[in-house]
Amino acid sequence: MAREQWASKMGFILAAVGSAVGLGNIWRFPYMAYENGGGAFLIPYFVALLFVGIMVMVLELALGHSTKGSAPLALRRLGKNFEWIGWLAIATAFIITTYYTAIIAWALVYLVKLFMVGFPTDFGGFFFSDILALSSGHGDLGGFNLPILVGLALIWGVNYIVVNSGVRKGLEKANEILMPVLFFLILALVVRSITLPGGLMGIEYYLTPNFAVLLTPKVWIDAFSQIFFTLSLGFGIMVAYSSYLPKKSDLTASAFTISLMNCGFSFLAGFAVFGTLGYMAMTQGVPISEVVTQSIGLAFVAFPQALSLMPGGIILAAIFFIALFVAGISSSVSLVESTASAVIDKFNLPRHKAASAVIATSFFASLIYATNAGLYWLDSVDHYINWFTIPLVAVLEIIVSIWIFKGSKLEKYIDNLSEYNLGSFWKFFAGIFSPLFLIYMILNGAWTELTLGYEGYAPIFLLLSLGIPVFGLVVSLIMPMIPWIDKGREIEEWDEF
Ligand code: PHE
Ligand code: NA
Repeated sequence: MAREQWASKMGFILAAVGSAVGLGNIWRFPYMAYENGGGAFLIPYFVALLFVGIMVMVLELALGHSTKGSAPLALRRLGKNFEWIGWLAIATAFIITTYYTAIIAWALVYLVKLFMVGFPTDFGGFFFSDILALSSGHGDLGGFNLPILVGLALIWGVNYIVVNSGVRKGLEKANEILMPVLFFLILALVVRSITLPGGLMGIEYYLTPNFAVLLTPKVWIDAFSQIFFTLSLGFGIMVAYSSYLPKKSDLTASAFTISLMNCGFSFLAGFAVFGTLGYMAMTQGVPISEVVTQSIGLAFVAFPQALSLMPGGIILAAIFFIALFVAGISSSVSLVESTASAVIDKFNLPRHKAASAVIATSFFASLIYATNAGLYWLDSVDHYINWFTIPLVAVLEIIVSIWIFKGSKLEKYIDNLSEYNLGSFWKFFAGIFSPLFLIYMILNGAWTELTLGYEGYAPIFLLLSLGIPVFGLVVSLIMPMIPWIDKGREIEEWDEF
């Protein structure tokens, strides 16, 4: 079977941007920025982007491009003992998809309720009680939340259609439509929010740096983990996507384009959110640092509430939730693709079978998030994935491909393909600076976890949540023992760097 290929370079960039731009940009970035003091967050964020994010992006693109494989195949081709690392990336993608789709379902249900009943008076109650029907904690599963369950099924259906249609007709086509639409939706929100009274005050809060905060580790760790999440790094997605590229492809330029477009998007969404919060601060006469009480609910509570104060707010809120939905779908298909392409490579299955198998399993696994305790499970699993699994995958990828497999060769491989040479700048930041920081992140996270726990959740449920990525790790260790169905495929010739 010849490997599928993108129809055009633009198609590849759009699909990669479609994966990168997601809930992370519209829901997670603004609340991270808000929680870390607005402008204080931006410096660590851009440092993380330039010196780590883009550098690791170059690495993942090079891995997929040279080996022509999804993450497990790529790592297998580097060496027999490395395949499991590829599967760990896939397991991470798989686990994230199961709850990522649940958040998209929240946006969908929110949108429908908004059309049916208009703005509520109590926004917190509307989200937590009416929409999530939230129970008292992890252990109190209650039952299925029917609207969320229906939304979830629908979202998995859409995912199936796109991934099943393949690289060109599915992923490429979908993003050619979704990305421009998303851009204009966000732009409309930005224009509206900064032209309101108080809007500029919000922007000022967003853009004024605070150098004192740079001394606290939390803001750096939040910025670094946000960069990995937002650029879709550590999930094998960029590896799989660049394996569908033609031989001559400028990897450095692609990495810069994808990363800068993604973070440009977040930056823009920040204008809409902070402008709107500034308006709310003004109308309610409270300082902007106090308008949001629960930062994680920013997109679902404070933001719609702020919109409701504006003339025409209901239309803007509809636009906002449609944007969340669109951004979420285009990212979730990439997560599914990452797993599907690994299954296709390993078991030599036709695409439709791989897609069906992956989606049926994921849908089943996502059911826990459609219960009344969904939010709690989502919160704790997301926490472990972001603090431990993603940095771990990234460190392992770096060690294997740069340290064991010779960074200089990889550096030449990349530079030969690219118009602008990164040279040893890349090797230093991808090979030394990034892993050191990632290891620091993991250790600091572990220490915080052991001393403070997380969000006051009961240890038993934290352990169970941690059990999910640990289970993923166990599966990853087992997968290499299963032989490649298409014998010899794993050691077929590749563009050895
Ligand atoms: N990058 C996406 C976002 O910002 C999330 C994502 C993570 C998508 C991992 C795919 C893989 O929302
Ligand atoms: Na993103």
